[in-house]
Amino acid sequence: MTATDQQSWNQRYIAGEFGYREPDAFVTEAHPNYLQPLLPAGSAGLDLAGGAGHHTVWLAQQGWRMTLADWSEAALAVAQEKAAPLALHPPLITVQGAALDVITRFQEQGTAFGFILVSFFLDRAVLPLLPRVLEPGGLLLYRTYTENNEGLGNPRGPRNAEYLLRSQELLEVYRGMKILHYNETVVHKGVAELIAQH
Ligand SMILES: C[S@@+](CC[C@H](N)C(=O)[O-])C[C@H]1O[C@@H](n2cnc3c(N)ncnc32)[C@H](O)[C@@H]1O
Repeated sequence: MTATDQQSWNQRYIAGEFGYREPDAFVTEAHPNYLQPLLPAGSAGLDLAGGAGHHTVWLAQQGWRMTLADWSEAALAVAQEKAAPLALHPPLITVQGAALDVITRFQEQGTAFGFILVSFFLDRAVLPLLPRVLEPGGLLLYRTYTENNEGLGNPRGPRNAEYLLRSQELLEVYRGMKILHYNETVVHKGVAELIAQH
């Protein structure tokens, strides 16, 4: 991705393209089924490339200490607007920057999270780094488009193979982790989802 891509994401958020959205079932179901049973209450979570925070804010309301990272400052501003009336405690932390830089910085600082959520974002350089910023026993929740999305006529999602997972790719990258859940679907859109434990 380039600075132009970053600007175009900013423009989309400024234009209000992403208004209020309910969190996806992948996240609301992971909360009782994986996060609560496997992590200490109030663990720190990172929503990487989390946009305007529709997952982050919901997770923070469930008691997780959330950090939202995205390279769009407009998206982060929308998330903080959503969080403000909720008086979250602890407050939502937002980090602006490219995902690769953000993760590299966390690693250098020795910062680690109880879980990381990545939803509809792919930067292959970032994939192998994620376990390095997970605590032992920490969870990775990953869900994004696969190459199958192309053939299904779904108008949404990237066209460029750089941003589309290959079949089984997440399983290959995270083969060193304990795979708790993996699914690839081709109903309306091509999506792969993985939940794995460090
Ligand atoms: C499709 S949206 C997904 C947002 C959110 N995770 C969700 O599930 O709704 C992709 C997000 O990734 C961000 N993004 C794209 N490339 C990025 C990069 N290299 N580093 C950080 N954020 C990036 C965009 O600003 C945008 O908010």
